[in-house]
Amino acid sequence: MKYFILFGPPGAGKGTQATSMVEKYNLRHISTGELLRKEIAAGSELGLKAKSLIDSGALVPDEIVEGMIESEFRTVKDVNGFLLDGFPRTTAQAEALDKMLAKTSEEVTAVVSIMIPDEMIKERIKHRASIEGRADDANDDTINNRIKTYHEKTEPLVEYYKGKGKYNEIDGTGTIEEVRTKIFGMMDKF
Ligand code: AP5
Ligand code: MG
Repeated sequence: MKYFILFGPPGAGKGTQATSMVEKYNLRHISTGELLRKEIAAGSELGLKAKSLIDSGALVPDEIVEGMIESEFRTVKDVNGFLLDGFPRTTAQAEALDKMLAKTSEEVTAVVSIMIPDEMIKERIKHRASIEGRADDANDDTINNRIKTYHEKTEPLVEYYKGKGKYNEIDGTGTIEEVRTKIFGMMDKF
């Protein structure tokens, strides 16, 4: 199995690009954010626990998302691999992922990182707020906290994966089609 990590700050275009990536390379898209929003919509115990954290722009505990990822790996078989969107997001999650894959002598194939500057994050999220109605897109404090959380907790993973020779960065500031072309050019190598 191939294990691609779709990396980038909030609003970089991970979800947008994931759709065509999974189709072209026959991958299973796993977005931890989407899985958590489904739990919230279903009113599950896990959803209740996650809601206040997500609405404040903080991360949910590592064990929760690690459990979600492992159960998807176990149940999905009929694909060439997985596209992890929004996971890992902390060094602890990256280490947990390495351990999970090591059990079957597998490893992360590559990190596809979509980068945009902080100002563009805000523009894109505000634009999406008017279309999708996501609770964590609705107010400035939450958006600012998501950006802060990204820089503090998630950005260190750039060095983590550079150190393993797995990091590939793409400029995410162009049009959706321009970014997609760059991603495909990069992924064709794996
Ligand atoms: P998550 O759902 O992962 O949100 P996020 O990381 O904040 O990322 P977004 O979904 O906001 O952005 P995106 O990159 O997918 O952008 P999109 O394609 O939609 O996580 C939500 C929360 O869940 C977290 O804050 C945390 O609390 C929790 N969580 C999730 N995973 C976790 C984990 N592993 N550990 C702990 N907690 C976790 O694009 C944005 C907008 O821009 C769209 O309107 C789109 O149409 C537009 N757009 C996209 N590309 C372009 C372009 N090239 N040009 C112009 N517009 C564009
Ligand atoms: Mg997304």
